[in-house]
Formats: sequence, structure tokens, C-alpha cells
Amino acid sequence: MRVLVTGGAGFIGSNLVHVLVGQHEVGVIDDLSTGHAENLHPSAWGRTMDILDERFPAAVAEFGPDAVVHLAAQSSVPRSITDPVRDWAVNVDGTRTVAAAAAAAGATRVLSASSAAVYGEPAEVPLGECSDTAPVNPYGSSKLAAEKALADELAGTGVDFASFRFSNVYGPRQDAAGEGGVVAIFCAELAAGRTPVIYGSGEQTRDFIYVGDVVAAIIASLEFTGTLSEAEPCGPAYNISTGEEVSVTDLANALRPVAGFYAPFEIARERAGDVLRSSLDSRKARAVFGWQPRVTLEAGLGPTYRWFARL
Ligand SMILES: NC(=O)c1ccc[n+]([C@@H]2O[C@H](COP(=O)([O-])OP(=O)(O)OC[C@H]3O[C@@H](n4cnc5c(N)ncnc54)[C@H](O)[C@@H]3O)[C@@H](O)[C@H]2O)c1
Repeated sequence: MRVLVTGGAGFIGSNLVHVLVGQHEVGVIDDLSTGHAENLHPSAWGRTMDILDERFPAAVAEFGPDAVVHLAAQSSVPRSITDPVRDWAVNVDGTRTVAAAAAAAGATRVLSASSAAVYGEPAEVPLGECSDTAPVNPYGSSKLAAEKALADELAGTGVDFASFRFSNVYGPRQDAAGEGGVVAIFCAELAAGRTPVIYGSGEQTRDFIYVGDVVAAIIASLEFTGTLSEAEPCGPAYNISTGEEVSVTDLANALRPVAGFYAPFEIARERAGDVLRSSLDSRKARAVFGWQPRVTLEAGLGPTYRWFARL
């Protein structure tokens, strides 16, 4: 299969490409805005290009994918607040452009990265795909609109599609700069010999999923022979997550033996806008295409910390 990965120089994309190249012909299109050139795989076809560039559809046609995994995005919540126009352009118009270019190039499936952010502050946990969506920031709004744009663009084309709502993904190659995930930030601080900061009580929960599990979900869905977009419940939406709630304090404690750090973490005032609880039920992905998370937090933190510590 020929698989095109947008955002293949980023955190999730580069982990995916490194596994895919052994199994398929792989292409990457990435503008390197947050991704890194050293993440690019030497065996993959590649173009450094913005998905909004007018030459993008021709580049997709040149590679000629059977499937497109669309991971390129403006993926920072704070940046979505300071520049909501760019956030909407990349995430919504960009997803529409990717879907149209994929269909025009003859691809038969488009898998697009969505986010737990589409749900906002959950009324219940764990959240299912049919739970209410009420994003609380421009990033969540653009990811939700991107799901709709993907469905609108591919309706009636015969191209299968899915929007994968990732929970909090962590693992090697995550960027701890700016607003990286809490695991990346804790690992980077500990690896640099500094004491990490917990904001608020530490009782706020997240659903941490290892990047290797996310890669396995994408590959399982690429190989699925049915129609992802029509599966019940709630069609093309799939939670890719563990379904478990882990508090930030529990995360800090799980990291202690991995990093050999036993002093107290620093405590700072709670940050406005942080969701208090988060956990997504991923049983639909298991029922439809046979994927389930396999890597426990304890098992995933080892390779993650070692990558940050360059061990
Ligand atoms: N990491 C997480 O916890 C998480 C959670 C939920 C959803 N997601 C989504 O998963 C996807 C991948 O996230 P990530 O964590 O790997 O982020 P990332 O920032 O590491 O990767 C995004 C990649 O897309 C590229 N890119 C950005 N804008 C582009 C554009 N206009 N044209 C071409 N390339 C562009 C970047 O250079 C980068 O390499 C994103 O869609 C993100 O919103 C991530």
C-alpha cells in the first residue's frame, strides 16, 4: 500500500512513519513548522510543504497514495487562542484540502487526527464517541469543524474516512517546548536535573496513551477491510485512548522510579482553562477494527524518559 502521512515530521507522524516504512511505501508532506527535519525517514518520499500551499494537490497526486493519514495541524491550544485565524485555516480548510486532494489522487481512505479537545469539559467519564461535543477553546472548535469538513468533502466520493480523537499522547520525540504534553514536560525537566511543577492540586486527570499504541491503531485501521465511516455508534468518530483516568500526581509518582527522582515536585497555582477530568472510552475501535491499547503507563514511561534523557 502507498501511504501518505501529512505531518510526518512531527511527534506522532514520525513514530508512525518509522513503523510504516518496513511494511508499505510511505510519503511525507510536512512544512516543518513544529516538526523536525531530523525526524524525516530517509526511505520515505517527502516534500517540505504547507498543506495550504496551492501546489499541495499536485504533490499528493505525484505520490499517488492509496491511503492518507492526515496528522498535520496547528496543534497548540495557546497558539489557537493567540491566532485563531491561522488555527482555523490549517485545521479546517487544511483538512478539507487534504481530503479533496486525496480523493482526486485516487486514495480510498483518509484517516484524520482529531482530539479529546472536541468534547470540552466532560459531563461524564469516560466519554464515548456519541457524547456531547462542547469545545472550550479555538483548537477544540477547529478540530470539531475539521471532522465535519472531512465528512462533507468525502460524502458521495466512495472514499472511506475516520476522525481519530486522540487522548493525551506521550512517548519519544514529543516536543516539550512551549505547551507540550505534561509527560514530555515532566520528562524534559527531570532529564535536565530540574524539579517539575504541578499546577493545582495534582488531582486533575488525563487519559495518557503511549504513541506506540496510537501507531498500532492507525496501522490496524489502514488494514481494516470494512467501512470505517459507517460503523456504529456515531460513524467516523473513534476515540483512541486507554479509558483510564490518571491524576497528574499519580503520573509524577510513576515517573519517580524511572527517573530516580524522589524529592517533592513543585506546586504552583492552577492554570485557567485546564480541563479537570479527562478519559475517553475506546471500545468502539476494538469492536470495529480490533485495536486496543496494550502499553501500560509504567511500561511507556521507560522509553519516553530514556529518549528525553538521551540514554
Ligand atoms: N500529541 C497529542 O497528545 C495529540 C492529542 C490529540 C490530537 N493530536 C493531533 O494529532 C496530530 C499530530 O500531533 P503531534 O502531537 O504529532 O503534533 P506535532 O506538532 O508534533 O506534529 C504536527 C506536524 O504537522 C506539521 N504541520 C503543521 N502545520 C502544517 C501545515 N500547515 N502544513 C504541513 N505540515 C504542517 C508540523 O510541522 C508537524 O511536523 C495533530 O493533528 C494533533 O492535533 C495530538
